[in-house]
Amino acid sequence: PVEVKKIVCIGAGYVGGPTCSVIAFKCPHIQVTIVDLNQARIDAWNDPEFNLPIYEPGLVDVVKACRGRNLFFSTEVDKGIAEADLIFVSVNTPTKKSGLGAGFAADLNYIELATRRIAEVSTSSKIVVEKSTVPCRTAESMRTILEANAKPGCNFDILSNPEFLAEGTAIEDLFAPDRVLIGSLQSASGKSACESLANVYANWIPRDRILSVGLWSSELSKLAANAMLAQRISSINALSAVCESTGANIDEVAYAIGKDSRLGSKFLKASVGFGGSCFQKDILNLVYLCESLHLPAVAKYWHAVVEMNEHQKDRFSKKVVDTMFNTITGKKIAVLGFAFKKDTGDTRESAAITLVNHFRAERAHVSIYDPEVTESTIMLDLTNYGEIPAESVQKNVKVAKTAEDACYGSNAVVIATEWDEFKTLDWQKIYDSMDKPAFVFDGRLILDREALIKIGFKVTTIGTGAI
Ligand code: NAD
Ligand code: UDX
Repeated sequence: PVEVKKIVCIGAGYVGGPTCSVIAFKCPHIQVTIVDLNQARIDAWNDPEFNLPIYEPGLVDVVKACRGRNLFFSTEVDKGIAEADLIFVSVNTPTKKSGLGAGFAADLNYIELATRRIAEVSTSSKIVVEKSTVPCRTAESMRTILEANAKPGCNFDILSNPEFLAEGTAIEDLFAPDRVLIGSLQSASGKSACESLANVYANWIPRDRILSVGLWSSELSKLAANAMLAQRISSINALSAVCESTGANIDEVAYAIGKDSRLGSKFLKASVGFGGSCFQKDILNLVYLCESLHLPAVAKYWHAVVEMNEHQKDRFSKKVVDTMFNTITGKKIAVLGFAFKKDTGDTRESAAITLVNHFRAERAHVSIYDPEVTESTIMLDLTNYGEIPAESVQKNVKVAKTAEDACYGSNAVVIATEWDEFKTLDWQKIYDSMDKPAFVFDGRLILDREALIKIGFKVTTIGTGAI
């Protein structure tokens, strides 16, 4: 196998940035360059004060340790490609907005453009690694593009190496992954390329956690893993509705079923609905794949996971309105948390966006607080990236600097993200500052319900019926 000395990563986002920073950190003998077309993003990665473009616990320390040593961030995409022996393609693959498969299929335009660039500027053989999440058999399209445009003497081996990190725990996940998956063609050169990449990871990951499989299994495993994970959340959320109508308690049910070692206790936390850039997109992508393969029953099965998630968000919003005497018009609602989960500033597909849109439609006044999400991001999300005039959103939405400020004078507090700091707020002080009756809606099951009731709050928690 080729010994990898120079790596370039195309795409300096939530995946490319942390993943390749950790490779540089763990492999001081390898030069790692992360490139992106987005100048502002690269500038932020190079910021002298280390105000990096993404918030991820532990990331700053990793970048501090190796930026300028063997880790570089640049917009010189062509130069990065030309110099590298191994290229990670870590560009975005969002759901298509128009055309064939709109609303379901992955938009592979960024993958194709990056692949064409690789073919165009490469003057030596390369190992090209799909890091982005892609539909099954995308590697074949990449191979066709590369082979049709390659310079003489340049060979390309394509690997699939999907990323399983979760945001908020990316560095932890990258330091000690459950597994690293590498898919390759089962040809001699495919297997050798797989070995080259495995040798990079073996610098810090035990060999028995580095799995080699066929290309198509690797591509499909990524979609399958996300579909199975999201399915657990939709299952527990579906059961939370049953709990609310029966007096059963969803945390107790999750505890009881999670003790079965065949089920396991993780990923059984009921919530206001899953968000994030991956689950919905990847399941819809799988649904589209199943439809294309003429497997409508299979497509319908996986689609139900996304439908249940939409139902959960709608159900929660409706519960807020119903509980507050069937109207929230003119009432002030504090929304605590806007990120799709704690420990990230990412808001992609966050349930909070849907909730705030529902509250706005009911003409409530909403005040939002999140420790990591900036006001400009919140406005982009609520204006649907400029589609809705900012003034119309600003009329009934304010962004607060602290949780207490957001709650001051409100009729209700809604917990949309499970940030730890919300557990230790001075809830008595918040109660005193609110209009009465003061409502709390815990969409993340993180607050001490009994303690809040004792203070005087009217508490509604997902998956808990009237006691
Ligand atoms: P992102 O949008 O944060 O980053 C992608 C970056 O690629 C952007 O900065 C964009 O400017 C850049 N880019 C696009 N085309 C380019 C080109 N031709 N040349 C150079 N740069 C280009 O996306 P992300 O969240 O990092 O996700 C990347 C991929 O990883 C997706 O396929 C996603 O499904 C997958 N993934 C994401 C996560 C996650 O938690 N976010 C986890 C696992 C896998
Ligand atoms: C997910 C996968 O976990 C990861 O392996 C993959 O690489 C990318 O997609 P991510 O979206 O970053 O990661 O976060 P994750 O922790 O999976 O949470 C996704 C959503 O599900 C969040 O909104 C979270 O709050 C919600 N969730 C998670 C629940 O509602 N209940 C749970 O028990 C777990």
